[in-house]
Amino acid sequence: PKMIVVERSGKEVSIDARDGVTVMEAIRDSGVDELLALCGGCCSCATCHIIVDTDWLAHVGQASGDEDDLLDSSDHRTAGSRLSCQIPLTASLDGLRVTIAPED
Ligand code: FES
Repeated sequence: PKMIVVERSGKEVSIDARDGVTVMEAIRDSGVDELLALCGGCCSCATCHIIVDTDWLAHVGQASGDEDDLLDSSDHRTAGSRLSCQIPLTASLDGLRVTIAPED
């Protein structure tokens, strides 16, 4: 699936990701280095915070449980906030556009 990532500077990067990865892995593998993803994707660090574009929110869905709690600890939580390691990048998300959240 293809994805567009907006870096903190506003620069847009197009990514062509492998099937079956998470959004976090797709961003990291693309060479965008603004996502620390310190815990490696096990939903415990919140350093993979991204903002999903409004148009895509219904497709991506809402954070639940532990992810929701972790996002609450961010000063930069918005309606589109998700932890990118918790979003499997499926074919139905082809064209997804997300922005790297500001650093906490
Ligand atoms: Fe740590 Fe997503 S990589 S919560």
